[in-house]
Amino acid sequence: MSALKKIAKKYFQYLYYFYSYLGNRLVLSFLLSVLVGVMDGFGLAMFIPLLQMVDNTGAAKTNTDGMGNMSFLPSLLEKVGLPLNLFVVLSIILIFFSLKGLMKFGEAYARVVYEQFFIRKIRMRNILGLSHFSFNNFINADIGRIQNTFSGEVEKVKQAYRYYFIALQYGIFVAVYVTMAFFSNPKFVSLVIVGGGATNLLFRFLQKKTKALSHKITVDSHVFQGLLIQKVAFFKYLKSTGLIHKYAEKLTKTNDQLHNAQRRSGMYGAILAAIREPVVILVVVMAIMIQVYYFHQGIAVIIFTLLLFYRALISLTGMQNYSNLFIGSAGSLENMTAFNDELKKGKEVTGTQPFEKFTDQVKLDHLSFSYKEHKILQDIVLTINKNETIAIVGESGSGKTTLINILTGLLKPTDGKLLIDNTDLSVYNTTTYQHRIGYITQEAVVFNDTIFNNVTFWDQPTPENIERFEQALRKASIYDFVMMQPLKKDALLGNNGINVSGGQKQRISIARELYKEVDFLFMDEATSALDSETESEIQENIEALKGKYTIVIIAHRLSTIKNADRIVLLNKGVISAVGNFDQLVQDSPIFSKMVQLQGF
Ligand SMILES: Nc1ncnc2c1ncn2[C@@H]1O[C@H](COP(=O)(O)OP(=O)(O)O)[C@@H](O)[C@H]1O
Ligand SMILES: [Mg+2]
Repeated sequence: MSALKKIAKKYFQYLYYFYSYLGNRLVLSFLLSVLVGVMDGFGLAMFIPLLQMVDNTGAAKTNTDGMGNMSFLPSLLEKVGLPLNLFVVLSIILIFFSLKGLMKFGEAYARVVYEQFFIRKIRMRNILGLSHFSFNNFINADIGRIQNTFSGEVEKVKQAYRYYFIALQYGIFVAVYVTMAFFSNPKFVSLVIVGGGATNLLFRFLQKKTKALSHKITVDSHVFQGLLIQKVAFFKYLKSTGLIHKYAEKLTKTNDQLHNAQRRSGMYGAILAAIREPVVILVVVMAIMIQVYYFHQGIAVIIFTLLLFYRALISLTGMQNYSNLFIGSAGSLENMTAFNDELKKGKEVTGTQPFEKFTDQVKLDHLSFSYKEHKILQDIVLTINKNETIAIVGESGSGKTTLINILTGLLKPTDGKLLIDNTDLSVYNTTTYQHRIGYITQEAVVFNDTIFNNVTFWDQPTPENIERFEQALRKASIYDFVMMQPLKKDALLGNNGINVSGGQKQRISIARELYKEVDFLFMDEATSALDSETESEIQENIEALKGKYTIVIIAHRLSTIKNADRIVLLNKGVISAVGNFDQLVQDSPIFSKMVQLQGF
């Protein structure tokens, strides 16, 4: 039983996979395919009396010996009272083939519709899966793989889907024709099936090879994509250091590997395509010889069976061609399945209560965080009051960014609690809490779109929204710059847009956060990438926001945080001092040394 289950699982796992997306639509497709085959078989069966009519030069009585057991069809007609004359036979043939055409239309159209449905669902699962993917899992994920799966792989899955269903359809035809042939002439068909089974071993061997290569191609594509993304991301660095050529060699090598595997996969495909027909014909020829010389049966008895076999042969060739094409792209399907599962498994855990508004205080209660065994934050005790400005300082690697990641709900504390207005953050639906957060980092987030869409995040340009937009621009001191652009708010930013400086990009990022109605502003080295003049200008903007938002700011340059209400000094994941600037200079030797080093 379990062995049978195993085989069924292996052969039907893909069918099951598609079923999980399509459900009963699959059954309808299946039925339509069966009907196409049956109508065709019936139509063909009616050619036999036709042929024999010609043989008997139009005699009224026809001989249906060549149909074997399928002669029930003409007998049935006679019983119903339809005489087997030329007109009736031709009409019946026409009716069967018209019905076949109708079924074929339904089947082909359903295939296209379901394909769209399937791909749409895959895309949705990916998009939603990534949205719910936890940050912790994201940073450990392979970005090249995500990128590749989202773009190229979806196309390949579409191909795989198409190949699978064409192969399946041919398979159904084979089954229908063979069943009909078996029904009309069991002995002959048994011979062919035994022979076919033997040759199948050869095909299986070649298919196994193709499948292994398909996996290799998918893995190599991920590596290649990953390398390519990094080449684009670090273009400036690679170019200015001359390392770009050495890096290109790495890319070339991976590319060569990829193409080599693709070429070999193509070769096996070509071999399969070439030997299939001769091998099948060999089997049929041998079966006919045994039938005639050994069993001493006439050719006439097998004429209809051969006709069906001819049909089955064409379908079999089609089925094998397409299943080979499918196997060549099955790697993508497996990758997609694994990817969906990973996204599902890596889903972030979130509470359900909607977060409305921050009113009182954030409390970090003996909070600790570790990556596996590596302790990053330890026993953090800190209260942040509403509309307070808190600065976090400490040397690189001391855990500042990690602390903000916890405050934004991206990472969950491993120990202790994070309380927002005395409620544990895990009680809230994380997204509703994050809606109240403005977040600005060193790399300004600028989308390839207009200034208006960048700031409003694609809100409608209603008069109220435009008013809010302009206010956000003013607060971020970027209003004049925007109004100087010929297209004003509709000027394009990003890759295809106007040339904006780092400081201007950063201001647009800030404007976006101010346009949103937020309670918190988190800034992680927001101005570190800017020159000190631009930094101090943006510094003034931030000063103006002080007391209006709850601000947590990480800054490398201490001048930036001189006016913070409180400064938290982190040292190797532990709070080593808290106080305002002057207090810390007095109380903390580490802080006063930092101040000295920066030349105050
Ligand atoms: N994804 C990660 N996996 C393991 N360790 C990490 C990861 N991200 C950061 N760390 C470690 O956590 C520590 C604190 O990092 P971070 O909070 O970014 O420091 P800071 O912002 O103060 O420079 C560092 O030692 C860093 O190596
Ligand atoms: Mg950091």
